[in-house]
Amino acid sequence: MTQPTATGPHPLARLGVIVVAAGRGERLGASVPKAFTSIGGRSLLEHALCTVASLPGGGQLVLVVPQDRAAEVLELVAASPAEAHGWHVAVVAGGRERHESVRFGIEALVPSIDTVLVHDAARPLTSGALFARVAAEVHRTGEAVVPGSPVADTLKRVTADGIVQETVSRADLVAVQTPQGFPRELLEAAHAGLGARGSAHALPTDDAEVVQLAGGHVRVVPGELRAHKLTTAADAALLEALWQASVGRADSTGAARDGEDR
Ligand code: C5P
Repeated sequence: MTQPTATGPHPLARLGVIVVAAGRGERLGASVPKAFTSIGGRSLLEHALCTVASLPGGGQLVLVVPQDRAAEVLELVAASPAEAHGWHVAVVAGGRERHESVRFGIEALVPSIDTVLVHDAARPLTSGALFARVAAEVHRTGEAVVPGSPVADTLKRVTADGIVQETVSRADLVAVQTPQGFPRELLEAAHAGLGARGSAHALPTDDAEVVQLAGGHVRVVPGELRAHKLTTAADAALLEALWQASVGRADSTGAARDGEDR
């Protein structure tokens, strides 16, 4: 859609981060698309820009946003520390489904990118440390990597009208978050293959599933509570509380809010 600067990314930029932010967020019931709602006085997109800007080394950041919000996003980019910290930012329009938005993000990557992290803007408090952990494991293994955490609640399979059918063992289950990391070629090929499969299958809800459908291995690294996803108003209250707790911690230690420990 549009590029905010005339300068290209550093010729050796190897890390690409795709932030998908084009969803409507209907379950949240806000008057603006979810990525433009605020936690801790900042929009979800501003959180993503600050966190990616804090990652060392720079690279390419692709923001996938609602088509009619591109001008507003370019202003956020210009006001953010991302470009000053070596991140070349591209803004592209999203698709009707999440996987389409990811595909449009992949298509915007410059040729030098060899590792890609795909992140939901809907997880605004995700730490820079989690981005770094996922990227390091992709580099170490050459495979797809997702953050995941053990499930604490007892799980039941229920009917549509709420009748419990059975208890599902949680022993080998994890709840999966983003950012999810991939060697670029693996992610590209998997998304291309998804298009070729047609619409006969349920839509994948994350990129690890797209890679698995294409036959790829996916590894799990530890996730984190603060990467919690904003879906409903109750999630917004939880994220506000997590934000306030992190601000309190930063104030008491003197740590910068936008630094490595975001
Ligand atoms: O709707 P949900 O919260 O599951 O979406 C996860 C992420 O995918 C959000 O950050 C949302 O903005 C993004 N998305 C997108 N394009 C869509 C649907 C969702 O970029 N068509």
